[in-house]
Amino acid sequence: PEAITVQELANRMAERGADLVKALFKMGSPVTLTQTIDQDTAELLVTEFGHRIKRVSESDIDIDTSEDVDAPETLRPRPPVVTIMGHVDHGKTSLLDAIRGASVQSGEAGGITQHIGAYQVALPDKSKITFLDTPGHEAFSDMRARGANVTDIVILVVAADDGLRPQTIEAINHTKAAGVPMIVAINKIDKPEAKPQKVREELLQHEIIVEDMGGDVQDVEVSATKKTNLDKLLEAIQLQSEILELKANPDRAAEGTVIEAKLDKGRGPLATVLVERGTLRVGDVFVAGASSGKVRALIDDHGRQVKEAGPSVPVEVLGLSAVPSAGDPFTVVENEGRAREVAAYRQGVLDRKRTTSAPVSLENMFANHA
Ligand code: GTP
Ligand code: MG
Repeated sequence: PEAITVQELANRMAERGADLVKALFKMGSPVTLTQTIDQDTAELLVTEFGHRIKRVSESDIDIDTSEDVDAPETLRPRPPVVTIMGHVDHGKTSLLDAIRGASVQSGEAGGITQHIGAYQVALPDKSKITFLDTPGHEAFSDMRARGANVTDIVILVVAADDGLRPQTIEAINHTKAAGVPMIVAINKIDKPEAKPQKVREELLQHEIIVEDMGGDVQDVEVSATKKTNLDKLLEAIQLQSEILELKANPDRAAEGTVIEAKLDKGRGPLATVLVERGTLRVGDVFVAGASSGKVRALIDDHGRQVKEAGPSVPVEVLGLSAVPSAGDPFTVVENEGRAREVAAYRQGVLDRKRTTSAPVSLENMFANHA
């Protein structure tokens, strides 16, 4: 089979060469623009970028870029995906619980978040918001390192009685690097020792200028335990979301990202997937990282079986052959043969990565991206 240079492939895909080099690097194949890659790698890359490929002959591939970008008329508004970040114990889970009106926090072992939870809440006006609760920033950076930027908006939770702490600053840096808009939730204002103004001043030192200080970052004083100003926080999210004009095509093969995955004793490998575009349905054949399968069942955030999940909907998927990793792309493909091919290729890349891995820092990888 014929080889193709990265630049030539980029031209045919109408993508930036640098983006292909970056993707190849992440796949464990560091190459330059002028170097050639084999056809299998080219095909995988094309699929990773969401383009369709037609293998015209054994030696030539035709890339149909017209099907990749969803036509404007196919786009429908989608809910924002909001990630809650902040220092340990500043009240991320409590805040999410208060918003959901449920109590996960009190049911957690020691009150420490064990997994990323993904939930959707419906507002009185019927609009929805998808929330991701993170156990720490590792998950967030892991996902970003794998190229998965699933978050539209970050809520930075800062306890008003504690101020900015190391993980708060880490969260600020991750958010800035990802180029995601931020809303600051100044939490625990019910506490007598709360000093919300001090939080705003500390934020200034990190170039976060909240509205109260004449900037454009929305800040809301809240209390998760007393349920104070939760409506204001939701309004802030809606306002930010309107500015972003988030849209996706629901009528296509689903693509998304694995948010969390585990091996369940009774049900086998499970993955929580956030659908980014298209609609995922029971019976769909998919690849999730180096794992493939056919959707046996879909379970929503209330533990109910559902038949389908559209853009911005988090859903648990049953029917995987193995446990994927958080941040893995989840792609519906046309048939099981294709699924096995892509999964096997990704497995090979993973094996190679494990043996030749050099330390890569997020900063290096995204230096030109932010
Ligand atoms: P990790 O997941 O471990 O990082 O913590 P977290 O940020 O999710 O904090 P969590 O919601 O578990 O809350 C930590 C502690 O702060 C708990 O004891 C909560 O009851 C308390 N807390 C959270 N929000 C408030 C609040 O608004 N006011 C007061 N007084 N206490 C709060
Ligand atoms: Mg928590």
